[in-house]
Amino acid sequence: MERLAVGSVLLVCLLSGASALLQSANQHRVCQSCDPQPASCKWNRCVTSCSVSKACPGPDDVCAAVWWRDAGVVMVETRCHDPLRSLKGVMLDSYNSSDCVLTVINDSPNLRVCACTGHVCNERVLLRKTAEEDDTSSTAVHGGGFRLPQLCRFCDIESTACNASGVCQSSCNLTSICESPGEVCVSAWRRNKGNATLETVCHNPAFPFYGQYLTDYNSSDCVMKQVKGMEDDFFICSCNREECNDHLLFTHASTPQETIMQSFPPVLLVSLVPALIAAVAFITTFYFCRAFHQQNLKAPKTKGIDSETCAIIMSVDDRSDSSSANANSLNHNTELLPIQLDAIVGKGRFAEVHRAKLKQGATDESFQMVAVKIFPYEEFASWKTEWEIFSDSELRHDNVLQFLTAEDRKSGRRYWLITAYHEHGNLQEFLTQHVIGWDELCRLGRSLARGVAHLHADRTPCGRAKVPIVHRDLKSANVLVKTDLSCCLCDFGLSLRLDNSMSPEELANSGQVGTARYMAPEVLESRLDLENIESFKQADVYSMALVLWEITSRCSAIGDVRDYEPPFGKLKDHLCVESMKDDVIRDRLRPEIPAGWTNHAGVLLLTSTIEECWDHDPEARLTAHCVVERFGDIGSAAISPVSADTKSARDSGNDEKEP
Ligand code: ADE
Repeated sequence: MERLAVGSVLLVCLLSGASALLQSANQHRVCQSCDPQPASCKWNRCVTSCSVSKACPGPDDVCAAVWWRDAGVVMVETRCHDPLRSLKGVMLDSYNSSDCVLTVINDSPNLRVCACTGHVCNERVLLRKTAEEDDTSSTAVHGGGFRLPQLCRFCDIESTACNASGVCQSSCNLTSICESPGEVCVSAWRRNKGNATLETVCHNPAFPFYGQYLTDYNSSDCVMKQVKGMEDDFFICSCNREECNDHLLFTHASTPQETIMQSFPPVLLVSLVPALIAAVAFITTFYFCRAFHQQNLKAPKTKGIDSETCAIIMSVDDRSDSSSANANSLNHNTELLPIQLDAIVGKGRFAEVHRAKLKQGATDESFQMVAVKIFPYEEFASWKTEWEIFSDSELRHDNVLQFLTAEDRKSGRRYWLITAYHEHGNLQEFLTQHVIGWDELCRLGRSLARGVAHLHADRTPCGRAKVPIVHRDLKSANVLVKTDLSCCLCDFGLSLRLDNSMSPEELANSGQVGTARYMAPEVLESRLDLENIESFKQADVYSMALVLWEITSRCSAIGDVRDYEPPFGKLKDHLCVESMKDDVIRDRLRPEIPAGWTNHAGVLLLTSTIEECWDHDPEARLTAHCVVERFGDIGSAAISPVSADTKSARDSGNDEKEP
């Protein structure tokens, strides 16, 4: 009995010792512990790929996380934390929660910390207390991080005391997380019959805001710009910093004319009127002279893309101010453009293109020629793809077809895309009908490469960020010839925006598209590296090389100019993928470069450029940007004995029109 009593005492001691040991082990909390890592955030919750957890050194340690956002990329660092110490300079007062709910510190929404007491509770951090899941509200960005929706002031329209001068603060006290990561913060100030209002919202800059495309959405401050041509005084700004649409800058240049006028004494106003009239007359004369001069310029400068193109684009933007309300927007049924369709000028896979008259005034005589691409309702997807490509205002370029607007013509069950009209038609038709001179070859070739380089670029010539686009159906029939004999790219029905927005399935299905005759070997074989955006560009460069060859084949500088033939044989022959595979992959065949092409130094240089662009190895091909630069040398290469002047094809036995 005594033995039994001693045994049970020992057992009790053993059990209580073990439980004490267990308790002390439990007190050392286990937390996730990783150096800063890019985090992926879905709606309210951010996680990293950290897989390290450890028992904290201190018995009272809690799990903690530091969250920050740099250029839109969210980073998270996880660790154990002694709650009696400060974290990032602040003492945490709420660490008893089982979830790690972030608190903003130092008044900066881009730096947040959290602490919690659950087991490995810092493996996910919450932006707010309630965790809602929404797969659509985060976007992967280059570098593995995730872009979170922006925080913006969001009060819609409120009356304001701001008088559109100097710096104004919105009176909006509501901060919202924008719905999608593409949205930026926008403020719009307007005055109607003396009442000023301020609208604060989130907005996706891919779409127009009050008919205007936002051009300043990459800026960190909201600098107000006046919108001309509105009935009210109307200013808009956009920006991409947290809550940046709270603090509005009205610079001197953006002060509304009316405000300046109102602040002038009437006497001064009267004395200024003659001077104003003289200034307007001077500017108008200058403008007309310049427009006249530009129209008469036969060969615009061809050096360096960038500041030059930037200036051209900006001047086009200036000139089209009044009409730009329609540019790049969907024109809804209520306000369809007054367009009268003329002849069909082109037929594509999904649509046909008409020449058309866009009425400009009350009379029938005043109109602008436009092209209307008409899609049947069944081809909604193609219309939408092309419209989406055109909707990126950063795509605007001299060598990309100018887009005017898209319309849903419900009554005719048709979708329209309205663009500039180019009377020379497409490059294939043009080359069929014309033999060109050396200067025209350089102009057509260089502008083609510039168009492709702009499409592929991730910056505009002015340095603004741009989504790279690949065409995927480059061919001479998808290039238009402008009246100044430069090219512009058209038909973006198969194009892709390389902005990480494609799902893996979409990517997997995007391997083999285009026209067999112009397909790069890796596209014919369906061996395109779908994970590398450069490989799409390399395939475009291959197709561009074939078009450059077509242009060269019709240039008098090569000597004996034959009738136009597309690459790999007769136009009427339908070439299928299988037969192209035999030629291009098995036999490594490329269009013929006759011996005569080597007699002209410039053609020789161009030929080697073309060969580098159609290399079997996609990685070995030049970039389109590099081809633009090559044209600098090609254009200035020694003039050969062959006349560089445009020669009529009629002279050489062709039925040809003079360009
Ligand atoms: N063919 C296709 N699009 C065209 C356009 N915009 N102008 C002239 N011809 C075309």
